[in-house]
Amino acid sequence: MLSLLLHLEGIESVVLETHDREYIERRVRAGVLEQSTVDLLCAMGAGDRLEREGLVHSGIGVRFGGLPHRIDFDALTGGRAITIYGQQEVVKDLLAARSEAVVFNATAVSVDAGEPSVRYTSDGEERELRADFVAGCDGFHGPSRAAVPGTSFEHVYPIGWLGILAGVAPSVDEVTYCHHERGFALHSMRSPTVSRLYLQCAPDEDIAAWSDDRIWDELRTRMRVPGWSLRDGPILERGVVGMHSFVHEPMQNERVFLAGDAAHIVPATGAKGMNLAVADARVLADAIAHWYRTGDDSRLRGYTDACLPRVWRAQRFSSWMTSTLHTDGDPFRFRVQRAELDYVFSSNAAATALAENYVGLRDG
Ligand code: PHB
Repeated sequence: MLSLLLHLEGIESVVLETHDREYIERRVRAGVLEQSTVDLLCAMGAGDRLEREGLVHSGIGVRFGGLPHRIDFDALTGGRAITIYGQQEVVKDLLAARSEAVVFNATAVSVDAGEPSVRYTSDGEERELRADFVAGCDGFHGPSRAAVPGTSFEHVYPIGWLGILAGVAPSVDEVTYCHHERGFALHSMRSPTVSRLYLQCAPDEDIAAWSDDRIWDELRTRMRVPGWSLRDGPILERGVVGMHSFVHEPMQNERVFLAGDAAHIVPATGAKGMNLAVADARVLADAIAHWYRTGDDSRLRGYTDACLPRVWRAQRFSSWMTSTLHTDGDPFRFRVQRAELDYVFSSNAAATALAENYVGLRDG
């Protein structure tokens, strides 16, 4: 993604992509875009379909104690909103803008910071690519972080999400988070005819133990509020993801820069992962473009300091959402979570704190 952003600034760049095109265009990932992410994609010229097909939402639902509540972004943040648009759709739009620069099925093996370069395998052969800069956008398991000595901070939550993509119109108008004693549930969507739903489960949950009926029954139980019903439909995709918080500091070494999941992971509860990656890419693209224009490397040297405060604010918010909404069987903690949620919906200050973090903090 980063290199694609750079291209639109007129800088020659190459993207090494581990998978083939079909795989990355189909892989179902997060779907909540902050306004700043939408603005950037539009400014790059990759926002036409997003503007046409993205679902703009001015609030989210939160259910607890068997009742529905709403966080009104419009009222609490002065008219800001989020856009629902799948990450794989963003990938398709970026590829449409520049697929000729992408080498598919090219697996990076190692990254060298001294002489900026990447060793990778493609067509069964090992090759090397030398460059002025390496942007390590290779995800949590990629090799570029090994080229950036530093300290990693992490927290692994003892929970997972069982996620489904279903061919049915969403039963809610807005992304809806549910706190329930049997565990968290989430109803999101991808389009007027495709729903995305999640259930809290064990991180190593055996998905084979979940029939379609069991999934829908459990969603109905956890999401129940008076006068509402959940429409079901064919399950198109299913999978289990873990909840993990991770930050690597610093995010750079010489001419290797980490961006997105290579540098940090957030649990999905706050819907921040893709937004953080895009924000890193914007800072790095600006710094590199500035260096090519002026020869001044101060922005490159300042990359980590420019990114980390935003990363840690997103970590704070994601960890707050995760620990407030997921249950662990402890009745004391469950009641404290209820009190926390009661507070959010009885205090304008607390509701504003949730809203402004969710839509994206302005300086982020
Ligand atoms: C999603 O639509 O996949 C989604 C929405 C909100 C979240 C996480 C995932 O917090």
